[in-house]
Amino acid sequence: MEHASIHGLPFPASRIALGTWAIGGWKWGGTDESDAIATIHHALDVGINTVDTAPAYGFGHSEEIVGKALEGRRDRVLIATKAGMVWDSVNDTKLRRESSVPSLRRQLEDSLRRLRTDIIDLYQIHWPDESVDFEETGAVLETFRREGKVRAIGLSNCTVQQIESFAKGATLASLQPPYNLFERAAEKDILPYAKAHDLVVLCYGSLCRGLLTGKITPETTFKGDDLRNNDPKFQPDRRGQYLAAVARLQTLAKEKFGKSLLAFAERWVLDRGNTIALWGARRPEQLAPVADVMGWHIDEATMHEIDDILTETITDPVGPEFMAPPRTQAA
Ligand SMILES: NC(=O)c1ccc[n+]([C@@H]2O[C@H](COP(=O)([O-])OP(=O)(O)OC[C@H]3O[C@@H](n4cnc5c(N)ncnc54)[C@H](OP(=O)(O)O)[C@@H]3O)[C@@H](O)[C@H]2O)c1
Repeated sequence: MEHASIHGLPFPASRIALGTWAIGGWKWGGTDESDAIATIHHALDVGINTVDTAPAYGFGHSEEIVGKALEGRRDRVLIATKAGMVWDSVNDTKLRRESSVPSLRRQLEDSLRRLRTDIIDLYQIHWPDESVDFEETGAVLETFRREGKVRAIGLSNCTVQQIESFAKGATLASLQPPYNLFERAAEKDILPYAKAHDLVVLCYGSLCRGLLTGKITPETTFKGDDLRNNDPKFQPDRRGQYLAAVARLQTLAKEKFGKSLLAFAERWVLDRGNTIALWGARRPEQLAPVADVMGWHIDEATMHEIDDILTETITDPVGPEFMAPPRTQAA
């Protein structure tokens, strides 16, 4: 396993981190708690020491499962969770952005309770609440850090302008944008900003919600509330283009490196900067390919070849914007 040092944390984070959105069930067609707990334990067995979760993942359920799974193992693991998204009641599955000062304090205490811990290693703003002043939001998280309730602070889904305001109030350690072979907007500004300011980038959707595992076909369907029912990449008009890219990338990975597409996609994320790949898994066997990601690199010529394949096959690209929760009014 490779590691990345996140400023403020007691030990370096594994460069593959377990993503636990699906473990929360909501937007992923449900969850199985015993599989989820076994997956978290297996992640530790394969050298993963960092778990990314959020209150929003299953309205607290993902955090509860992570807390339960890590009892007795807490000191070996870095927990990254988030703030800034709330819901009004247990029966209300509508999430909204909320980073007012009293709410952030409540959100922190709720996360600590669900995670069965007294300190959060990496506390990240999930989605920016534009009705508040970002510098003030930064200052609130900085207070939590000074109080010893949080070790390091990060931001997800923010623009550079928002990051700059936030960083006036807080010592920032990491960023969390969407980033994978098919979703590369972060290359324009977030990755260069992170490099210039020595921040670690936790890349979400590193398998593009399964597209980069090679298991999606034109016939694949998704059950219940699965977000891919509304993901534009998975709709018939675009799915063919992405699957054409998948087929060519699969051949490239196999012929040049003897690797699966999944290992190739994860390696690609790790070879793009000071990154951590967030890998969404909910069954232990899904983590079997972790070892295949380590011990090799994608050379510059192959990086160009990949870009050519993407340009030739995906003629109508689309990003992950469909996932963004409604904005709040700017103050
Ligand atoms: N900050 C944010 O706003 C944000 C947004 C999205 C995600 N995230 C974080 O990033 C993490 C990763 O992103 P993600 O969970 O959305 O998606 P992802 O990691 O790109 O992909 C997850 C998909 O990959 C499949 N998969 C995983 N391992 C596999 C294997 N070995 N073989 C075949 N398929 C495999 C899963 O299959 P199954 O469906 O069969 O389980 C699932 O469909 C999240 O869990 C979360 O922690 C953050």
